[in-house]
Amino acid sequence: MKVLLVGSGGREHALAFKIAQSPLVDTLFAAPGNPGIARHARCVPIPVDAQDDLVKLAERERIDFTVVGPEAPLVAGLADRFAERGLLALGPGAKAAQLEGSKAYAKRLMARHAIPTARFETFVDPEEARRYCEALGAPLVVKADGLAAGKGAIVCTTLEEAARATRACMEERVFGAAGTTVVVEEFLRGDEISFFALANGTDAVAVGVAQDHKTVFDGDRGPNTGGMGAYSPVPGFDATLERRVMDTIVRPTITALAREGAPYRGVLFVGLMLTADGPKVLEYNCRWGDPECQVIMTRLDEDIVPLLVAAAKGAPLPVRVAWKPEPAVCVNLVSGGYPGRYPTGLAIEGVETAGVDGVEVFQAGTSERDGRLVTAGGRVLGVTATGRDVRDAIARAYAAAAKIKFDGLHYRRDIGYRAIATT
Ligand code: AMP
Ligand code: GLY
Repeated sequence: MKVLLVGSGGREHALAFKIAQSPLVDTLFAAPGNPGIARHARCVPIPVDAQDDLVKLAERERIDFTVVGPEAPLVAGLADRFAERGLLALGPGAKAAQLEGSKAYAKRLMARHAIPTARFETFVDPEEARRYCEALGAPLVVKADGLAAGKGAIVCTTLEEAARATRACMEERVFGAAGTTVVVEEFLRGDEISFFALANGTDAVAVGVAQDHKTVFDGDRGPNTGGMGAYSPVPGFDATLERRVMDTIVRPTITALAREGAPYRGVLFVGLMLTADGPKVLEYNCRWGDPECQVIMTRLDEDIVPLLVAAAKGAPLPVRVAWKPEPAVCVNLVSGGYPGRYPTGLAIEGVETAGVDGVEVFQAGTSERDGRLVTAGGRVLGVTATGRDVRDAIARAYAAAAKIKFDGLHYRRDIGYRAIATT
């Protein structure tokens, strides 16, 4: 079959790597892709928001199946456009993608269906938001309703910080229209994990769990990023906990959406806090995590294509999927200055020598200039290794990362530290 993958990041490189291994796939296209994805796919320079051009590409090339990587095109209705044209695509329609596109929508859905999450209220009036903050007490969390590139949740340790956060969102509009409505919620304590399920509209199967490292510096310090590294599986997250998350969160969410006329077909990413009262939802995303996808694709011991096609068609899903026993660790190599301003166009050396012996160097922010690989984004490469145990996987990932050079290169030296502490 002919498959089209929409997207161009490290997550999509990991998906391309896995999809290209399927014996069912004759040709893999990517739009727009990147130089790493080009090793597995024919890249077509169409941006992810050019819906008409993506539909035309799928029709012209007689694509059998399309996988959408990032959230923005899904929230903008790309899956609906493909469905209208009779094209099979994986990813929720715009209505179901509201789970990620609007935190207020997600929180109200959880409240209506008794899905465990932090106590909250939503506001359009800054004065009312401030009054609720005072009633709730610090610490608390202020969240811009809409898509804010992962920066829209502000954890406030004092009421003064909460007042600043509501003002920044609602009056100064630092997140633009995304902050017109805010959600104010109770602060949850516990370990945070990324849980993934694949849904076919009526049911779902668990497809991996990982832990991300959000801040730019070691010891969880510095500003938040899209993710500096990840590992999977998560020690202590056992089959009992997985069943509990599927039974109390994932299946109720899928059932709720179906009942509300927004059936969910695609990957559901649940950001969970494992609290003393059990797992609670921090947020939903309508896609794989990045860099969580890199470690999950490395460990998945199945042909991914039949799974994704079944979900897109609303066909039955397996009860569980198979995993390689080895843990996987991904260390992101980022541009100096990220998540603030950073230069691009810097020559990258060592990708070929690092990507040997089962180490995969997934490319995120890269491009090619005069036949050479150069930096083109904040998160540049995701060096991903498996190992006998998590220590071995960490050592192998760092040994490979040390072979890669570009000016200003930065990475955290402590990816996986929590996994070591608990094993
Ligand atoms: P979100 O965009 O909703 O995932 O929030 C970003 C980050 O803020 C999460 O990954 C958590 O680390 C933190 N966070 C969000 N909501 C809460 C909460 N209710 N309690 C504690 N931390 C939170
Ligand atoms: N790594 C977190 C995310 O993809 O949102």
